[in-house]
Amino acid sequence: MGQVSGKVAFITGGAAGIGAACAKALAAEGAAVAISDLNDAAGEATVAAINAAGGRAIYLHQDVTDDAAWPGVVEAVVAKFGKLDIAVANAGIAVFGPALSMSLADFRRQNAVNIDGVFLTAKYCIPAMRKAGGGSLIMMSSVAGLRGSAMLAGYSASKGAVRLLAKSMAMECAGAGDNIRVNSVHPGIIVTDIWQKVTTPAGGGLNAPMDPQQLGLAVPVGKPAEPVEIANGVLFLASDASRYITGTELIIDGGMTAGSVRRA
Ligand SMILES: NC(=O)c1ccc[n+]([C@@H]2O[C@H](COP(=O)([O-])OP(=O)(O)OC[C@H]3O[C@@H](n4cnc5c(N)ncnc54)[C@H](O)[C@@H]3O)[C@@H](O)[C@H]2O)c1
Repeated sequence: MGQVSGKVAFITGGAAGIGAACAKALAAEGAAVAISDLNDAAGEATVAAINAAGGRAIYLHQDVTDDAAWPGVVEAVVAKFGKLDIAVANAGIAVFGPALSMSLADFRRQNAVNIDGVFLTAKYCIPAMRKAGGGSLIMMSSVAGLRGSAMLAGYSASKGAVRLLAKSMAMECAGAGDNIRVNSVHPGIIVTDIWQKVTTPAGGGLNAPMDPQQLGLAVPVGKPAEPVEIANGVLFLASDASRYITGTELIIDGGMTAGSVRRA
């Protein structure tokens, strides 16, 4: 028996990076997995890898900001696998640069994915989980959602909003007695393509992309994490091992939020 055997999981932004690692970890532990993304080629490749390894996975094209398309996506997951037990609201983007250089359009574009997309995940997945008799909803925040981050003010604001959206949705579910848990996950610096894709607001005067290996040197444990470290935390929150845990935040950051380390 795997840790999530018999469960059905849905992961947004599951084509690559942390989302793909979550999909692989959940599938390896027995869940049927549906992933959605904008990047169809990477999404199909991730699903092919899971199925080749003996898992059960499907890919669905989705823009998480598209409210009208959400019901069809959730219906497709339930039509394929019969129910929905686990949802990971993972899709996210980062816009890097001084806040005062950021256009309102960039600020809103980032919020559309990082907050609206997470809200829509909850809005459309929770009813399906209620039909299944309960479930676990995991929202991907960041250490940037716990403390201020120069050059990532809009990103930080969006991830801070995710943290309290998770707690508030956890209270609504607990109050409804629907057996659905909602928690947020806060990665530190993880080696994924997001660092190659960070966009710089016009006039920011900063260069993108950034190197996570370089950034990882400032992490107390001295290195960045691989996506599997985050997937292991998501797996725990998705599984019944965490059945009494709701409204909390799981920080996986190599010590970044705990303090700083002096090195010679
Ligand atoms: N990499 C890190 O260091 C780090 C740290 C903290 C938090 N996070 C968060 O983890 C999550 C995953 O990030 P990642 O590092 O794996 O990034 P990534 O860029 O490798 O993966 C993100 C995925 O989301 C998809 N996506 C983007 N916009 C979308 C949209 N509108 N609709 C559907 N899919 C969309 C992308 O195509 C991509 O496949 C994000 O929410 C990110 O903010 C990452």
